[in-house]
Parts: sequence; structure tokens; C-alpha cells
Amino acid sequence: MKKITLGILTLLLLMLGQLEAQQKLSTETDAQKEQRMAWWLNDRFGMFIHWGLYSLPARHEWVKSNERITDSAYQKYFDNFNPDLYNPREWARMAKAAGMKYAVLTTKHHEGFCLFDSKFTEYKSTNTAIRKDLVKEWVEAFRAEGLKVGFYYSLIDWHHPDYTIDNNHPQRPKNPADYDKLNKGRDMAKYRTYLHNQVKELMTNYGKIDILWLDFSFPGEHGKDHNDWGSEELLKMVRKLQPGIIVDDRLDLNNYDDGFDFVTPEQYKVSEWPMRNGKKVHWETCQTFSGSWGYYRDETSWKDNKQLLVLLIESVSKGGNLLLNVGPTSRGLFDYRAQKALAGMGDWMTVNSRAIYGCTQAPADIQRPENSLLTYNPVTKRLYVHLLDYPLQRFELPGMKGKIKYAQFLHDGSEIKMRNTDKGDVALDLPVLKPNVEIPVIELVLE
Ligand code: GLC
Repeated sequence: MKKITLGILTLLLLMLGQLEAQQKLSTETDAQKEQRMAWWLNDRFGMFIHWGLYSLPARHEWVKSNERITDSAYQKYFDNFNPDLYNPREWARMAKAAGMKYAVLTTKHHEGFCLFDSKFTEYKSTNTAIRKDLVKEWVEAFRAEGLKVGFYYSLIDWHHPDYTIDNNHPQRPKNPADYDKLNKGRDMAKYRTYLHNQVKELMTNYGKIDILWLDFSFPGEHGKDHNDWGSEELLKMVRKLQPGIIVDDRLDLNNYDDGFDFVTPEQYKVSEWPMRNGKKVHWETCQTFSGSWGYYRDETSWKDNKQLLVLLIESVSKGGNLLLNVGPTSRGLFDYRAQKALAGMGDWMTVNSRAIYGCTQAPADIQRPENSLLTYNPVTKRLYVHLLDYPLQRFELPGMKGKIKYAQFLHDGSEIKMRNTDKGDVALDLPVLKPNVEIPVIELVLE
């Protein structure tokens, strides 16, 4: 008897869990969601931009927390902020030349400084030497270059006096018993109103916004979760003001099927297409050139051209997007290393973007040849073999006999001769000399 009751209880709990996982905030159907996200799924490659007062210390956008800097000690960065060389049109041109189709700018990062003219704070760019709404100029410039625009907005705020001190705050106590004392007089409800008001400004004052990147939740003791942000209400407001917008997954609304549009693996490569509740989900990995997001003068761990290209290709080969970050300097420029990295990607994309845009994971029955990555365009039925390690002459495509109409290099559209083998494979005759592209791509027109 006891066993049966236990069994029924477990079943009920499972069903409840299921129900919870399927809760929805809106009435949008799956098909409508796919349509809303179609451009993003096609474009695959975007630019992240982390810019704020932390570009002055130039040693990580978390410098205020890492070094436990007080508001008054951090003030010198506000007082000296003057990006006199800021020309967002130049930024947009560089993004576009790299093959990026959209961009996401930090309108406010964890330090709390706003790059936009908010009615709700004095801690903003219009009150610094530059006197400009930097977000407004940025939106206009990126739109003018034909890029989609997105806003990053930090849920976390290390400057707002009502934002309670938590375990990543610059003023976090050494002794956990001290949190209560430190938080006396701070009122998260007031901060929540501030946060909703600012997001409302961003969703109202800058025209159509394509992406919203809210960052981030860290539930648990001395952490922050969806209750702190009022995430349900916040997301509903965002969707009402910007019905077409695409929103990330850091609001701590994972119990809702539509609590996010895509997941955001950060600074690591996924081993396979990410899943939630047994289903493949849309995803975008965000990555840096050198480790930190904000401009970091002395960082030496820059990824090279090939590593960056592999990041992009591998993401698409698993059905995902890449959001690659630039941290502009405090003068408002892309540092020479960032410019070089972008140009390198642009050289490759100029001739190979067909293997990225509109592409996704190859059908499951196609085998990946050694030392390669596959991307696939389901509309044109073209398969792309990215040669990570250029082979010597004979290159075999296992099990592809009878499946290929035509083969060519993508960068120069030159034919690659092919032969069927007795084993049912296809052998390609590649030139001995590696073509002059970082990662050569073979385009296969499938039957
Ligand atoms: C993290 C970091 C942050 C960065 C972001 C980008 O959550 O806090 O500095 O902006 O990831 O994904």
C-alpha cells in the first residue's frame, strides 16, 4: 500500500514538474517564434560591444568588484571619461566588413554607468565630458550600415544605492553575518522600479530594437533571482513594447517555455547542440578575443585568426550563433589587435560567408570527414566541408557515393574533381598546395 501511494505521489510530482516546465508567459506558438527569430537564425554572426567606465582602468569590466573599489574611489573614471574619438559609424563598418550582421551594445554594465540619457539617474554619459547619449548615436550608426541592433542591460548594479549588497558586489563583506548590517536602508523594491523604468526607456526611445540581452541572475543565498528583478513583469513589458524582439536567457525564467528565446553558453565551446526539457533550443555562444569583455590593455591571451574562425564555424556546425566581443578603448576606438582580428575574419567571410549564413548542423546521416567541420544550408541543399587541417590530395567523403552533384572550392568557385570508390565513398582530388585561405571550404551541391 505504502509503495503504491509513494508511486502515485512520484507520478504527481513528475506531472507537476512537467506542467511547470511548460508554463508560458505569452500565447505565441512555436511557428510564430520561429518566424520572429528567422533573421537571427539566418545571420549567425554578431558583434558584442562592452564599453563603459571600466575602459579607463583597462583591467577588466569587473574591476570594481575584483578590487572591491568603493563608489568614491571609482569616481575618477567618471570624471575622466571622454571618448573624444568615438565614431560608431566606423565601428559599424568594421563589424560589417568582418561579416557580422548584428551587434549588441552594453547600455549599462554591472558598474551601473549608463551610456544613454536616462531620466532616472545622473550617472550617465550625458553628464560626462563627452555630453552625448552614446547609445542614440550608436543605434543610428549601426542601423545606417544595415546591421540589426541589440541592447545589453545589466540587471546587476554596483552603483545604485538601493541595490542590495550580494556575493559579487564590490562591498561584499568578508563575514556573511555582516550582510544584514550592510544592507540596512537599501531597498530592492526601489531598485526594481529603477530597473523597469530604464528598460522601458531603452525599449521606447530608440526605435525598433532587435535584441535584448539582460545579464544576469545568480540565485541562492546572497545571490539574486527572478524575484529580485521582477522578471515576469519585466519580460512582459519588453514584449509588449517591442513585439519582434529576441531576448536572452539570463532572467532566471527557465521554468517558462517562453522565458527566453535562446541560451547563452559563455566563453566555452558546447560539445553538442544544447537541449532544454529534452528539446533542442536556439543558442548563441558569446566569446571574447582575449578573456575579458571590457578593454584590457595588458591582456596577452588573444585568440588567433584560425581559432576565431573555428569558433564561428563550429557554432554554426552545431546549429548556433556566435557573438564575438570587442572592448573599445576609453577614447572610443577599437584597439589595433581587435581591428586586426576583425579584418582577418572579414578576409575569410568575404569568400566563405555562404557556408555560414542560412546554415546549420548537417543532416544526421552525413559523416564528418577527418579534421573537418560540416555546415549545411537546408534551403539550397549545399553541404560545406571546412578543412581545418589541409589534407594531401586525396580526400574521402565517407558514404557519399551518389549523393553529390558537383564539388568546388567555395573561395574561388573552382571545380574539384571527384570519383566514387568501391566502398561507397567519394574521393576528391585536391591540389597539393593549400589554397591561400585560412580554412579552405569545399562546397558540395547535393542531389
Ligand atoms: C558575464 C559577465 C560579464 C559579461 C557577460 C557577457 O555574465 O558578468 O562581465 O558582460 O557575462 O556574457
